[in-house]
Parts: sequence; C-alpha cells; structure tokens
Amino acid sequence: MSVANIGCVPQTVCRMSKRFYVTTAIDYVNGQPHLGHAYEKVAADVIARSRRSLGQEVFFLTGLDEHGQKVEQVAAAQGKKTQAYCDEMAQSWKVFAGRLNLTNDDFVRTTEPRHQEIVRACLSRVNASGHIYKKIYKGFYSTKEETFLTEKDRRPNGTFDAAWGEVIELEEENYFFKLKDQQAWLIEYIEQNPSFVRPDYRRNEVLGFLKNNVLEDLCISRPISRLSWGIPLPFDPNYVTYVWFDALVNYISIPAAHGDPEVAGGLNCEPALPSARLSLWPADIHVIGKDILKFHAVYWPIMLKAMGLPLPRQVLVHGWWQKNGERMSKSTGNVVDPVAVINEWGVDAFRYYVLRELDIGPDGNWTDSGFAARYSAELANGLGNLVNRSLSMLRRYRKGQVPPPSDELSAEAQKVIAETRSLLEQNRLQAALQSIWSLITRANQYVDQTAPFKLAKDPAQARRLDEVLYNLAEACRILAVLLWPFLPDTAIKIYSQLGLSDTPDRFSATNWGGLTPGHQTGEPAPLFPRRDA
Ligand code: MSP
Repeated sequence: MSVANIGCVPQTVCRMSKRFYVTTAIDYVNGQPHLGHAYEKVAADVIARSRRSLGQEVFFLTGLDEHGQKVEQVAAAQGKKTQAYCDEMAQSWKVFAGRLNLTNDDFVRTTEPRHQEIVRACLSRVNASGHIYKKIYKGFYSTKEETFLTEKDRRPNGTFDAAWGEVIELEEENYFFKLKDQQAWLIEYIEQNPSFVRPDYRRNEVLGFLKNNVLEDLCISRPISRLSWGIPLPFDPNYVTYVWFDALVNYISIPAAHGDPEVAGGLNCEPALPSARLSLWPADIHVIGKDILKFHAVYWPIMLKAMGLPLPRQVLVHGWWQKNGERMSKSTGNVVDPVAVINEWGVDAFRYYVLRELDIGPDGNWTDSGFAARYSAELANGLGNLVNRSLSMLRRYRKGQVPPPSDELSAEAQKVIAETRSLLEQNRLQAALQSIWSLITRANQYVDQTAPFKLAKDPAQARRLDEVLYNLAEACRILAVLLWPFLPDTAIKIYSQLGLSDTPDRFSATNWGGLTPGHQTGEPAPLFPRRDA
C-alpha cells in the first residue's frame, strides 16, 4: 500500500455493502495463550458466527501484537532473531486459533508490512494536522511495564508498588499525542451513544474517568537507541512508535489492506488489493478485556477523530477469569491451559463452559469441578442424552425413518427461537445459551411425559408414537441450528446423525417442519460421552 496525495475512492466502491466487522484484542506474542485469551476469542467467534447465521456478511479479525521491549528481550534470551522468534510464536498462536475453531477472516501481525505502512500513514496524518509535538520528559519509568509513571503511581513514602518492577529516573525527549482539549466532545459522544461502551457499568467507568481527570498527553515514541523493535516514525527515523499507536491501528490497517473505502479515503491511500475491496470500517464491535478499556474508549476515539475517521460502533468489555478464586499466574502454577482442556474434553465442551459460566462483563472463576459438573449435567445428560435417545428410538421403532410431521413442540420451539435470535442480536451469549437449554430441558421432559418406550409396546398407539418421534427429531434439528455459533462441531454431528448433508449454519433453517416424512436418519453416537467423576 502506498500513500498518495490524491483521493482514491472510485464511485462504484461506495455502493458495496458494509460488512459486520468484529475484532478482538491482539495478544502479546511473548507468551503462551491462556484461558483469558481463549475466552475473548471464542466470544468474538460466537458473535461472528451468529451474525453470519442471521444472514449478515461478516469480517472477523484477530491477531498478534508483536512489537516492544519485552518481545525483543525474550527473543534475545532465547538466542533468536526477534523476527524469527515472532514468526515461530505466530505459527503456534495460529494453530491455537484453529484449536478454538475460530472463523476469523484474517489474522493480523503487527510486524507485517501491510500493517506497518498504515501505522506510518496514520502517524503522518496526525502529525500533519498538528496533533503531535516533541518535548523533554523527565520522570520515573518502569522498565518492566515499559511505561512512564506519574506522581499518582507513587506511594506516600515515595516508593512504587512492586508490580512496577525496577523504577528508574529518566530524562528523555519524546513525541506526544495531544489529548488535552479532547475530553468535552468525547464525554458528549459517549453520553449521546449509550451503546458505544457495553456493559453499562463500563461506560459509567469511562465517563467517571473522563469527568474526574485531566487527560495527560500520550507519549507515542521511544528513541531507537533504547528500543529498536518497533515501527520507525515517518517524520523522525531516530524514534519508533510505541505500543498503542501501533497496536490499535490494526483495526484499520487490515480494512485498508482489503481496500476499505472509508479508511483508504480517510487516509488518502491506495489499496494494495483493488480487486478485492471490502467495506469494513467502522468496526461494529471491538471485543476487549476490562484492563484495556481506557485505550479503546478514550485514546482510540481521539486518535480516530484526529485522523478524520469515524468511531467504532461498540466497545464490548469482558471481565477477567480467575482460577479457584485466585489470579492466574504461571509462577504459582494456578493456570488453566485451554489446549489441555480441549485435548481432554473437546473444543465444544470448552467453548460451552466459558460462555455459559461467564456473561460478557463481570469477572469469572474457573473451577475444574464446575467444568466437570456442567459437562455432565448440561452436555452429557442434557443435550447429548436428548439427541441420543431421540435418534435411537427413531431407529429402533421406525428404522430411522422420519414419521409424518407433527407440531406439538412447535410453539415452544418458536418461542425459544425468537428469544435466542433477539439475545444473539444483543450479543447476550450466556442468556442465549440459557434460552437454548430451556428447549433441551423441555424436550427431555417431553420424552419422560410421553414415554415413547411404553407407546411402542401398544400397536394402537402407533400414530401417537409417530407424533412423539417426529417432535423429538425436529427439536434436535432445530437445536443444531441454534447451537451452531456456540458448538459448531456438535451442531454438525447432530445434522449428520439426522442424515442431513448440509451445514446447520443458517438461522432461517429453524422454521418448524424441516424434516420431511420418510427421510432416512443416520447412526446415533454419543455427542458428549459420560465420564466418571
Ligand atoms: N496487546 C494488548 C492489546 C492490544 S489491542 C489493540 C494486550 N494483549 S494481552 O495479551 O495482554 O491481552 C489480550 C486480551 O486478553 C485482552 O483483552 C485482555 O483483557 C485479555 N485477557 C488477558 N488475561 C485475561 C484473563 N485472565 N481473563 C480474561 N481476559 C484476559 O493487552
């Protein structure tokens, strides 16, 4: 992509329809993926899959944050070239995304030229419009957290919290991005756009912060003598850009790489892939954790405004996971390794537990016993048992052939379908799972109430048995469609056991009556094998 001085948005581009654009935070490359990363990515994937199922065109972006001192240090400690280290790590993070069954449309790495060029274009743009200045900064600096500290971070006795590691006094000339004078419009914007930050209590937190503090200008550079692993500033080769001006820009650099007209027009740049133009920006949802809220709801909007680009529609903020009520930490061994859980229990069990256990917003607590309990009660005995006995009875009593249609459970299914649709549209994933499980519970109850195994013994009840078997098989089919965004492998297995060759990835297939009489269903097999406690 090359920066040009001419506008580059052909008329035809304006008519292409904008995709629903959902992003995750990009993870630091200098560590192994853990539960927190996995949770966020799965939540964003479910949002992406839901929107696709509901008929929207979607673009789902995730990826890696690869610059900074820590990456440089870890690579050096391992005796590797920094880029080679990043390439190796990126490979394993991509494998991890695959293990989570993510349907991301692209995977950004901040060391890629396509990203770096846009970061430089953004910096040129905000520098040209007078938002950047240089000044000497003298103060305390945490080498561990790579950040300048203020008096507010200092204890009354003049010391700093051990979490900052070694704190040194530093005098350094750096570039700053002006944040002063930006508070008023941002407060007004957030007040007028209630859905900009979700959930509400996070929005209030941002408003409280903006109303009670004067924003300090943001230091956006590091001298190349101290940090070389970064993107050189386009207006001063002695400096690299530091962290957030690099990382946040991924949300627009990838749209730019796909020829997004909004970003290309805003930054006056020429897309690299003119034949494959996608309209993505503004993002519909940035899914992030609570610790990076300020960067996304304060700095990012101000940066975008300075670039002349529209703001994202929503910042959706999730809480943090603990394990057994304590912060996860490698040093104490109190960690959850998502890959180990997936290897032992399957990816759908993992995806189910994290989204069923923790709503998007509050903090959560992982316990192995809680995981096993949900697996057993809700997956094995709830969903698994329903599908297995419904299909086994259909096989035993009707040779697996679908009987004539009946709509005894239709009204209850329709209610759950409507409710799930609305909850998915609001990104209320935990509530959507609860709604879907109400249909599972109802259908299991229906088996107990109608007792098909007894009906089968009485030839005079053949019509009634047909009705019951149809309702159960059709409920299973609809459940597969509802479950698709959450448990894609399981949904596919249910369809396959029902003898259906298509994929349950279209919400419109939830209409009652999809199974036709005489259709031959397949072989039932346990979806979630029971485990000993
Ligand atoms: N690289 C930055 C983000 C830049 S986005 C433009 C970063 N990386 S991170 O690897 O530290 O965190 C990535 C995401 O994982 C963040 O949204 C963070 O909140 C989330 N989590 C990290 N630990 C977590 C838990 N224990 N629980 C839930 N999510 C957590 O920040």
